[in-house]
Amino acid sequence: MAIMGSTFLSLADTNSSKVSQSFQIVGHFIASLLPLIYLFSVSSIFFDIVHYQLHQCTRSSHPFLRRLERIHHFHHLYYNRKMKFDQRYLRQNQFQALPLELGFQIIGSCLGYMLAVLVAPNAKAWITEVHLWALMGIQILRSTFVICTSGRDSNHLTYQRAPKDPNWIFVGPEFHCLHHVYPKRYMSSFIKCFDWVWGTASSLRTKRFVLTGGSGAFGQAMIAELRREGVQSIHTLKFGSDWNNNDFGGAISAFSRSDVLILAHGSKGQSAVESNCDSSVELVRLFKQHSQAKELHSTLPEVWYVGSEIELHPSWGNTELQRYSASKRKFLPHARSFFDDPEILYRHIVPSSFSSSMGCAIVSATWTAKVTMWWIHRGARYIPATYTGIAYLNYLKFMWWVPYGQQMPA
Ligand SMILES: NC(=O)c1ccc[n+]([C@@H]2O[C@H](COP(=O)([O-])OP(=O)(O)OC[C@H]3O[C@@H](n4cnc5c(N)ncnc54)[C@H](OP(=O)(O)O)[C@@H]3O)[C@@H](O)[C@H]2O)c1
Repeated sequence: MAIMGSTFLSLADTNSSKVSQSFQIVGHFIASLLPLIYLFSVSSIFFDIVHYQLHQCTRSSHPFLRRLERIHHFHHLYYNRKMKFDQRYLRQNQFQALPLELGFQIIGSCLGYMLAVLVAPNAKAWITEVHLWALMGIQILRSTFVICTSGRDSNHLTYQRAPKDPNWIFVGPEFHCLHHVYPKRYMSSFIKCFDWVWGTASSLRTKRFVLTGGSGAFGQAMIAELRREGVQSIHTLKFGSDWNNNDFGGAISAFSRSDVLILAHGSKGQSAVESNCDSSVELVRLFKQHSQAKELHSTLPEVWYVGSEIELHPSWGNTELQRYSASKRKFLPHARSFFDDPEILYRHIVPSSFSSSMGCAIVSATWTAKVTMWWIHRGARYIPATYTGIAYLNYLKFMWWVPYGQQMPA
């Protein structure tokens, strides 16, 4: 019995030392990975800043900066605005633009190392020159591989039109191709940090807008914001004359000349469900059918719908609010389908109450429109224009609770 007990104890000892050994290996692995991740992040943020500056240097008075800009421009000529490769610039991209990118990445890694050592005196215990050399080795190997494969890496794929970007943190080919369509926007190369900070994850200037509810409080505020953006055109569709809940014929010609549809109309009256839900679904269907954004811009047509926090909170026994709530909630499954629809870029705006003919509130429609634009500049597709926080909670409902209202196109 005593022998069995001691055998059992020694087995348990062996097992626990194996477990602690495994923990140690994982610990060492993470300890050497973290400095690499840190250096890589600093390097890519530095690269994004320099990259942004390069695009501002077209008319720089300094010949050296203009030269750098021209070298980078070869990259844009090679993988061009139409998201296609132009073989005429293959060599310049391989032997000028890509080595220049590598140079900036290496400088970024060195700066990251120097920053760590300068800011934290005992950083050398954590981040060593070996980490720096390892990362530079990886960067050189990666660039050599990209040069050898004619500059066709995972971020540069040919597209007929820019597809919907499925990632909200990391940069993939769907995001990067937009940088080639709009070279002064969509600057990030790895994590979308730069575009979140600078608000460069959208491009509205070349777009033509069509808007319902243009005479309303939000509609007016939105028109002012779009004018400030310098968008190409804004067309308003008036309820009762250009369209009504049974006749949408007057909207079709405007749709064929527009790239972005904003559904900013709304009603709390008897026809709330018809106006806020049924008509909106029909307007989106017609817009998808008639907008020529894809042909003109190589980007998806966009639809922005103004929802409400009432999608989540109760109606407090108020009959008018109950009707309004039912109309907004009926639209939700359609909104959820549009959100994932590969044929359109759908943005769901969820404002808290703002002052309008619908009622008084502590914020204005102008504030709501400005917050909306702030999110859109950062590439958001679900837009919480809120001061209560309910719209943030509603995001969970919107993404994971609301069922699809329509079958997804293949
Ligand atoms: N106000 C708020 O507190 C609040 C909060 C959250 C969400 N929202 C949403 O924001 C959007 C705009 O609201 P708002 O406060 O700016 O509204 P608003 O000032 O009352 O304007 C609504 C506009 O919709 C059009 N309209 C009026 N009756 C209609 C009907 N029966 N069917 C269709 N369109 C009609 C009119 O524009 P035209 O004459 O130009 O057609 C009207 O100016 C709505 O979708 C609303 O649900 C509002």
